[in-house]
Amino acid sequence: MASLEIRQYPDEILRQPTKKITKFDTSLRKLVQDMFDTMYQADGVGLAAPQIGVSKQILIIDTAGENEAKRPMVFINPRILNSSGEMIGLEGCLSFPGVFFEVKRAENIIVKFQNINGKDQKIDVKGGLLSRAIQHEIDHLEGALFIDKPISKLSADLELTKHGFLDGDIIECEPQTPLAINANELVNA
Ligand code: NI
Repeated sequence: MASLEIRQYPDEILRQPTKKITKFDTSLRKLVQDMFDTMYQADGVGLAAPQIGVSKQILIIDTAGENEAKRPMVFINPRILNSSGEMIGLEGCLSFPGVFFEVKRAENIIVKFQNINGKDQKIDVKGGLLSRAIQHEIDHLEGALFIDKPISKLSADLELTKHGFLDGDIIECEPQTPLAINANELVNA
């Protein structure tokens, strides 16, 4: 069991495009296991390899709730083949601890990828947390981040400033009402 350091913005590796995996060997298995250990420790639902400093096309996801059995999923060299519809929802990212804002994503996606043994697979995801998490993580593999696509740039910038990712001061004029967050619908990836 090895929990690794999660790279935080503005670590340069988060902006670098990743390399395809060509060898499906024991070192890949070890890396994926370390990624799961790291993600579970951080209470995330998804993690992409660049977030632990490895510029390769690996992402992992587990959207199981707190009291459910784990549902670990591994996607190697993933590509979105088709997407349709739209959905707006709150997103967070393990590379931006504490920051949440709304992001628009496709609702339905068809993704091709390879499994841990290198076998070609396809998954057809109809909306929900899994669809959002896969899209968030595939962005990571392309050096794209959720801060590139907020619904409201102002809200995102306020969140980033509040958590120290942007310079500036925020004067809070009103007591903050807690966001109504349904934990099962919240992507922190
Ligand atoms: Ni992320």
